[in-house]
Amino acid sequence: MIIGLLGLGTIGRGIYEHLEKRDDIRVKRICDLLRHPGLEHLETSDFREVLNDPEIDTVVELIGGMEPAHTFTVQALSAGKNVVSANKLMFSHHMEEILTLAREKGVQYRYDASVGGSIPFLHNLMRHRSADRLTGVSGIVNGTTNLILDIMQREGRSFADVLKEAQAQGYAEANPSADIDGIDAQCKIAIASAVAYGQYVRPEDVDTAGIRHIDASDIIRFKGMDRVCRLIARSTRNADGSVSAWVEPTLVPADSAEAAIRLNNNIITVEGEYFGSQSFTGQGAGKDPTAFAVELGLRDILEGVGPRMNPLPEGYADVDNARAEHPYYLRTAAAPGVPAKPLGDGAWITEPMSVRDMHALAKRLAEQDEATFFAGICG
Ligand code: HSE
Repeated sequence: MIIGLLGLGTIGRGIYEHLEKRDDIRVKRICDLLRHPGLEHLETSDFREVLNDPEIDTVVELIGGMEPAHTFTVQALSAGKNVVSANKLMFSHHMEEILTLAREKGVQYRYDASVGGSIPFLHNLMRHRSADRLTGVSGIVNGTTNLILDIMQREGRSFADVLKEAQAQGYAEANPSADIDGIDAQCKIAIASAVAYGQYVRPEDVDTAGIRHIDASDIIRFKGMDRVCRLIARSTRNADGSVSAWVEPTLVPADSAEAAIRLNNNIITVEGEYFGSQSFTGQGAGKDPTAFAVELGLRDILEGVGPRMNPLPEGYADVDNARAEHPYYLRTAAAPGVPAKPLGDGAWITEPMSVRDMHALAKRLAEQDEATFFAGICG
């Protein structure tokens, strides 16, 4: 297997270092805008040198973001090259186009690394789907926000202080909003849901809220409730075939599996009618765990593991978040305007209400109080 590696950032460097120790996969070209001492003989800033090289059969796209990752991916697949990627943002928004093109061209687009980092979760989701009707996928899929919430919970430090530490550890996205506003998790649950249910889910249909406005006073209240805050992405397949899908800070019981997830780790629980419920945990972000997942994709291609990871979902799911209901913790300087029990100092516990209504309410309240924060209460 001869590789063209696009992007030599943290993950790109990780996969290059792994592959250097092997002799069955060779990196022939590295395409990056920067130059790296010692790698000049491989480097180019012109993607056409990868695209037009007939010896390169597989492109590893680790540029991230929407463009030029999308254009390069489409061009590589069109040229009959396999593509292996960790790019959840681009893939979640172009899933149908990319999987259809890969199928037409008889090549593979492998995205094992896009959700859950080192956890071989998507692969198992595909296998489970072949023998069961999957009904739910949920969990902690963003390592950066889990690190922040875990440290805030255990050390009582402020959000801003811990965010700086998370960024320094190399887990965060280039744009911190992607992590802390839940966008990264939104893309991941859209991908996982499409794999689980066989219907594409548009990321913009996933009601999404992040942890930007959580503060130390919230954490103290959660401790009094014997709960821990985690950023949970969840989707369920409803009896009528519609899908509910959302990302929101969630107060889980202090003795739950999610509360026990430390630092940048992830946990993803899959539910099926036949096998029940199973959880996968492990490192979901960072250089080596993500590079490991990229290498799994490469090895599957090399060893002829079939296109299980190239399913073609059929059509788009009808996403209906009016069907999912639970109570919420809400802190706002504005009047909530829904039935709720006061906790004092602008904090409330609402009556059970739908995910759709709560996310719409929070947007209205944020116009009056930008620091409005809410969290679902589940489990
Ligand atoms: N920023 C992401 C995270 C990287 O923290 O989970 C892995 O997708």
